[in-house]
Amino acid sequence: MKKADRIEQLPPYLFAEIDKKIRETVNKGVDVIKLGIGDPDRPTPQYIIDRMVEEVALPRNHGYPPDEGLTEFREAVSRYYSRRFKVDLDPDREVVPLIGSKEGIAHISSCFVNPGDINLVPDPGYPVYPIGTLFAGGEAYRMPLLEKNDFLPDLEEISDQVASKARLMFLNYPNNPTGAVASEEFFKKAVNFAKDHDIIICHDGAYLDIAFDGYKPVSFLEVPGAKEVGIEFSSLSKPFNMTGWRVGYAVGSAEVLEALYRYKTNIDSGNFKAVQYAGVEALDNPASKEQVDSMQKLYRERRDVVVKALQEAGCPLSVPQASFYVWAPVPEGYNSQDFVAYLLEETGVVVTPGKGFGEYGEGYFRIALTVEVERLEEAMGRIKKVVNY
Ligand SMILES: Cc1ncc(COP(=O)(O)O)c(C=O)c1O
Repeated sequence: MKKADRIEQLPPYLFAEIDKKIRETVNKGVDVIKLGIGDPDRPTPQYIIDRMVEEVALPRNHGYPPDEGLTEFREAVSRYYSRRFKVDLDPDREVVPLIGSKEGIAHISSCFVNPGDINLVPDPGYPVYPIGTLFAGGEAYRMPLLEKNDFLPDLEEISDQVASKARLMFLNYPNNPTGAVASEEFFKKAVNFAKDHDIIICHDGAYLDIAFDGYKPVSFLEVPGAKEVGIEFSSLSKPFNMTGWRVGYAVGSAEVLEALYRYKTNIDSGNFKAVQYAGVEALDNPASKEQVDSMQKLYRERRDVVVKALQEAGCPLSVPQASFYVWAPVPEGYNSQDFVAYLLEETGVVVTPGKGFGEYGEGYFRIALTVEVERLEEAMGRIKKVVNY
């Protein structure tokens, strides 16, 4: 069967080999501890579930949702931005609900990229940025996120030739997979770069609410002029343990969002209305502050367990201030895939090889903090016994 080039060109699934090894290890009866996937392990808070149960019973919620999403949901996002970031958003023009932020991230390239155009994507990074680019017929130019630059792209390294063909620049802070954060200063530089080269910035804020040690991540839209050059994607998935509910949004430039909205209305029919009402509850209910606070405390405790164990093993890692990932170099003599295979074999612990996030992820591995402390302690105890830096 002949498939379209865009399917044939998809990169090989890097985790296929490791997935096979995990199945074999489980079948051998080993107690496997999975620190690979960034999916919150705790349930969605009860106040959100209660609202969902109420809304799902109402026949008025059973039909197609409005194309532009429920006014109540867009207004709740706007109130959240005003409270959390002091950013004003017009709920009618500057907020578009998404079926999870992944949906918008995957589709935005199709709104702005023609064959031959370039998108600037972070490497290592969330794979959907280059894949969305590929599906739109564009080419991904990889901006290396290097430890010596605090895992921020060096915008001065991007040549005028590349910048002149670039349509979108994807950024993501707090960052997956490195856990790095960006300052307002960095975002200001990005806004200036976007203005100089007529580029649209797509900032992915999936982890904006997960931070520790008093650090408060900055929204890209807090920076003057940001709304003229870009948008921010965000999501209820991570702060409210709602990954399966599929509810996120894009906010920012009305002109950019109008194109995304037009694209979406031609291929999907939006979020179930009951899910949007549950999203309103998640954002608006006073309990949400408590939820976010306790979630931050939980991940900080887990981060401390992992960081302490790796430091004791002699691993020279940067301690993350945000996100629920720890990004660490592999010991000398391994590449990331070999090291991950070695850990699985020797300890039954699953971590993600850095190479899975791009070529500049090589030499690192990622631990997701999405299991309980006791299991993490068990995993790190096993790892400490077999690694040497
Ligand atoms: C950086 C980043 N962006 C976006 C997403 C997508 O989240 P969702 O589609 O659940 O909103 C993820 C999920 O892991 C992520 O890590």
